[in-house]
Amino acid sequence: MKSKVPLSQKIAAAKDLQNTHVLKCPKALLGVLKVLTLVCAMVCGVYLCSTFLKQPHYQRKRDSFESKASEMPRCINVVYKSSFTYLYYRKPESFNRLDCSRNTIRFFVIVSMQRSGSGWFESLMNSHANVSSNGEIFGQIHRRQNISMIINTLDSVFNLDLVTSSSKNECSAAIGFKWMLNQGLMDHPEEILDYFIKRDVYIIFFLRRNMLSRLVSIIANTFDKKAKLLNGVHVSHVHSQQEALTLARYKPTIDVTSLGSDLGKMESTATKALEYYKSTRHIVVYYEDLIKNFNKLIQVEDFLKLPRMKLKSRQVKIHKGPLSEYINNWDDVIKTLSGTPYERYLVGDY
Ligand SMILES: *[C@@H]1O[C@H](CO)[C@@H](O)[C@H](O)[C@H]1NC(C)=O
Ligand SMILES: *[C@@H]1O[C@H](CO)[C@@H](O)[C@H](O)[C@H]1NC(C)=O
Repeated sequence: MKSKVPLSQKIAAAKDLQNTHVLKCPKALLGVLKVLTLVCAMVCGVYLCSTFLKQPHYQRKRDSFESKASEMPRCINVVYKSSFTYLYYRKPESFNRLDCSRNTIRFFVIVSMQRSGSGWFESLMNSHANVSSNGEIFGQIHRRQNISMIINTLDSVFNLDLVTSSSKNECSAAIGFKWMLNQGLMDHPEEILDYFIKRDVYIIFFLRRNMLSRLVSIIANTFDKKAKLLNGVHVSHVHSQQEALTLARYKPTIDVTSLGSDLGKMESTATKALEYYKSTRHIVVYYEDLIKNFNKLIQVEDFLKLPRMKLKSRQVKIHKGPLSEYINNWDDVIKTLSGTPYERYLVGDY
């Protein structure tokens, strides 16, 4: 059955058809052109990508720098592994970096041993407006239970997602923490070295030259944990001369039977750490050198490529003056160490 459609409607429909046809023509053409352009761009993109990826250009560049660095004489304290600088524009999840979101951030670790003055050194570093050093984060055992926990913890620091009381403002230019040798650092040297190199972590070895004074500090600090000389409170660091005097009044008696081996162990641990991590970008700072010459701090600032700034700490040195004043059985210690490699520890101030 044919439906009866009025002529006027037929004409209108035909006109519509014509109109759409006329309009469709350039649309289709445009579409084809669009697809062609897209395909072209894709082919070009894939080609460019593949040629760039094939070039081992950057990797090779870095390797050659590294091998040059390892050929450097060992007496040089500062190792600048390469001039190849990495730029980090970190966007932490836990806070907003505001105006400084485009500032470069360098990662560092202060590698040290207990009672070496590293607390003082870290407080100096933290007095810099652009440094956030997060303390001994591996003091918590669960963070160093196994290598995966260690890597997770490192990631959270360097992705700026570990916020501690020492984390500063959004304008940090260097972020790091203090890592003691007995906090897992010596248990997984290969994996940790790999991490340091991959993420370009700057290492500051902060060590003590005189292990005998370190031993006195360890014994005195252990004693105070029980004795609590400052009004019944144990402290590891003090902020006034009066408190320093009170703590320094305690003169430990050194166990001379194990003294030689104790000092030997301390020395070899420090040497081993320097050996394990010598291929990192690093600087070695000795406590004694810093006490004598504050300009060492400028070297550290330059090493981390920080703007130079005067650094200060509220911490007060507990033991001052010659070591003989701080050891109860000084004569025994002299007798024990004379003629040994540790004789040099007897001279010099604390
Ligand atoms: C590491 O320790 C964590 C926490 O105890 C545990 O959940 C995880 O399975 C351990 N990983 C390995 C590889 O042992
Ligand atoms: C250092 O901190 C100041 C103030 O917080 C900021 O203005 C400056 O951009 C920071 N510098 C770097 C290098 O991040």
